[in-house]
Amino acid sequence: MSQGFASKPALTRKSSGLSGTVRVPGDKSISHRAFMLGGLASGETRVTGLLEGEDVVNTGKAMQAMGAIIRQDGGAWIINGTGNGALLAPEIPLDFGNAGTGARLTMGLAGVYDFDTVFTGDASLSRRPMGRVLDPLRRMGVQVKAMEGDRLPVMLRGPETPAPIRYTLPVASAQVKSAVLLAGLNIPGVTTVIEPAITRDHTERMLIGFGADLSEETDTDGTRTIRLQGRGKLTGQTIDVPGDPSSAAFPLVAALLLPGSDITISNVLMNPTRTGLILTLQEMGADIEILNPRFTGGEDVADLRARHSELTGVTVPAERAPSMIDEYPVLAVAAAFVKGRMVMNGLRELRVKESDRLSAVAEGLKLNGVECEAGKDWLSVTGRPDGKGLGCAASERVSTHLDHRVAMSFLVMGLASEHPVGIDDSSMIATSFPQFMALMESLGAKIEQA
Ligand code: S3P
Repeated sequence: MSQGFASKPALTRKSSGLSGTVRVPGDKSISHRAFMLGGLASGETRVTGLLEGEDVVNTGKAMQAMGAIIRQDGGAWIINGTGNGALLAPEIPLDFGNAGTGARLTMGLAGVYDFDTVFTGDASLSRRPMGRVLDPLRRMGVQVKAMEGDRLPVMLRGPETPAPIRYTLPVASAQVKSAVLLAGLNIPGVTTVIEPAITRDHTERMLIGFGADLSEETDTDGTRTIRLQGRGKLTGQTIDVPGDPSSAAFPLVAALLLPGSDITISNVLMNPTRTGLILTLQEMGADIEILNPRFTGGEDVADLRARHSELTGVTVPAERAPSMIDEYPVLAVAAAFVKGRMVMNGLRELRVKESDRLSAVAEGLKLNGVECEAGKDWLSVTGRPDGKGLGCAASERVSTHLDHRVAMSFLVMGLASEHPVGIDDSSMIATSFPQFMALMESLGAKIEQA
């Protein structure tokens, strides 16, 4: 993929209530990590439920370029890893397309090796800050050759013996935490990460599952300290990836907004570091039932039943942001239909996602007649419960800025607003949710693709 692929405009129209039971694709964060740790571990890793989106496929290709053997066997992915510490020097640049997670985590994983690795990505990824990962890597002794301002493309070369560090995260970022821990796998001694605000913990859970010597403790003030003993053995595992709550968010919000809706999304990841959206929607009055909660493969999972609900605006506290960081675009769309006003705080990190999501969302809402205001790190939206007057003029389309979640969010908006909502491009939805259009149509959504 990457630069130069053709844009595919799309449009949604007011739809009647959604109904049915669906499964969303596998969690993106867990899928990336499954390819990475499977590709590194000794022996065979078998992964089912993997997200086969472009972002994850690019991570798989990067692991292949560094010596992992990956094949498909029916619905499963079989990975034969190199063994910890035994990645091979890639002979080609590693292209991560649109994926910050793929690029940043692999920078940690491969950057400390004593060979050259070149990292590239599409126009969106090449605008995103990499310094947050490059800074701790430099402290481990990694040489960095980057384009101006620590943007991709970047070339990394590790020292003969990288140094273990104790690193306090300057931003609440699971990507930075994971990059440091994955680098620590190939560093002698103990690598320590201190996390002032808890972020998604899939790397820690999976490292423990693969046999790494990792310990965690959380202070009374919520600070978490994670210690990893480097250069231990990792052994291949069986992983069943649960459905991605960040993808489930789109049919979930659509069902809440459309009168008469009653849908069930089965097998959704319910890791508490990922459930901020559900909590927020419930505070807004959403009828979401958590059915059949279970613990499988080291993660909490449940089925979610959502029915149309009258939503009321609430204030979302800044501390909740890490547990729903990818869900603000679709929450902002839900906010356009609430009774009253919705305020979302602590959104600074939205400015450095696949697009500047805070600006992209505010622009898109305004284009569709929604009253909203964006500050440096907050967004306020005044809702119109019946969606009257909302939607764009036939000649106008929301600019998606190569951002899959902005695209899907505004397609959800068009299902509930009086007038249709068009987006300039839907092609990048394939990075995280290739089945989005078909799944939404199967529930009753009216979508037109160019
Ligand atoms: C991710 C962490 C989050 C999230 C991204 C996936 C991960 O990014 O936005 O989509 O898998 O670790 P940050 O860690 O930069 O907040």
